[in-house]
Amino acid sequence: MNLLITNIGKLLGILEPGVHKLSGAEMSTVNSLENAWLLINDGKIKDFGTDNSPEKSANTETYDAQGSWIMPCFADSHTHIVFAKSREEEFVLRIKGATYEEIAEAGGGILNSAKKLHDTSEDDLFKSAEKRLQQCITGGTGAIEIKSGYGLTVEDELKMLRVIQRLKQISPIEIKATFLGAHAVPALYKEKRQDYIRLIIDEMLPEISKNKLADFIDVFCDKGFFTQEETAEILSAGKVHGLVPKIHANELGITGGVQVGVAHRALSVDHLEHIGEEEIECLRNTDTMPVALPGTSFFLKIPYTPVRVIIDAGLPVAIASDFNPGSSPSGNMFLLWSLACIQGKLLPEEAFNALTINGAYAMGLSEKAGSITRMKAGNLIVLEPLDSLAQVPYFFGKSPLKKVIIKGKLID
Ligand code: NIG
Ligand code: FE
Repeated sequence: MNLLITNIGKLLGILEPGVHKLSGAEMSTVNSLENAWLLINDGKIKDFGTDNSPEKSANTETYDAQGSWIMPCFADSHTHIVFAKSREEEFVLRIKGATYEEIAEAGGGILNSAKKLHDTSEDDLFKSAEKRLQQCITGGTGAIEIKSGYGLTVEDELKMLRVIQRLKQISPIEIKATFLGAHAVPALYKEKRQDYIRLIIDEMLPEISKNKLADFIDVFCDKGFFTQEETAEILSAGKVHGLVPKIHANELGITGGVQVGVAHRALSVDHLEHIGEEEIECLRNTDTMPVALPGTSFFLKIPYTPVRVIIDAGLPVAIASDFNPGSSPSGNMFLLWSLACIQGKLLPEEAFNALTINGAYAMGLSEKAGSITRMKAGNLIVLEPLDSLAQVPYFFGKSPLKKVIIKGKLID
């Protein structure tokens, strides 16, 4: 089925093929066309323009956008949407004054989610994750990365990754799977951390690789979680199995995570709520994408990643949701757009690029998603007609989304 969209008030986010990410000053431009049309053929963008739209052929449906604006779907490069239960009891503890770290040290946090996941069947996990995926898609996400990391045993990590594999099979949008066995050290291994690292390397990784269950490997390299040395060991082992490194770094302090990520040619280094000159210098002239997660800063009341400073240094930035039950229970990319502008001092255009093309880069999908480019997926957000792009983050909390189109199909 083909879809011809006519009467587009403004078509936003047009990029030439071969542009995989935008850095520094490039991020403040969003190329657009007014009074445009766009044709999706076999799920991919076939063509677009402003002159006379192509003749409607027999198997082409037409969608009259009636002046609406159209942008590429968001690319959410960092989520943990496979989990058993929400953790609002920890949210209440934090309201009463406990910190995220104190809750984690007392056996809450990630270990709490691991216990709940252990007690939940694979089918139930799949059903709840499928609902969250659907919620992300109807919110405008057109490509997503999903991590394991609430298993923390061989069986439960494999269970999570099999759920992600099933999601890949049924999903209308592209999904990338990340193995995050090194999310936390399970209580059983508290006094013998090295044994847990051996379990990851000698038992989890070979099984995951044999069954092709992951694209990326991630480590939570932070205060109280995994050290720089442990992270290096795990990322190196993942690379032997063909997994591309990503990293959770510098959420709780400056812990050397950026340096270890860059040394291992990580595709992205994520969080970076704490980042200094050295980290910025280390990221310069690399292929590693810094990823900010403003939903986590908002929800945990921790510092916001200094995205303004990073972009002013000439680097790229991607923004992702970190959708998870502990630190960011939301996949709302429009809210992140507002937070990026209000708290991160990004221009609306810079935030747009961080949420689309740079997000796609951060999960190795910039050839397929993240912009209006011929041959990329026909995954689009239809926005109400606007006076300016700045109205999107300005009207915070009110989504201007009218419709989502995935591979040329209108989604309800
Ligand atoms: O990215 N920081 C580590 N992992 C998740 C939080 C996990 C949790 O609390 O369940 C994050 O914020
Ligand atoms: Fe995360």
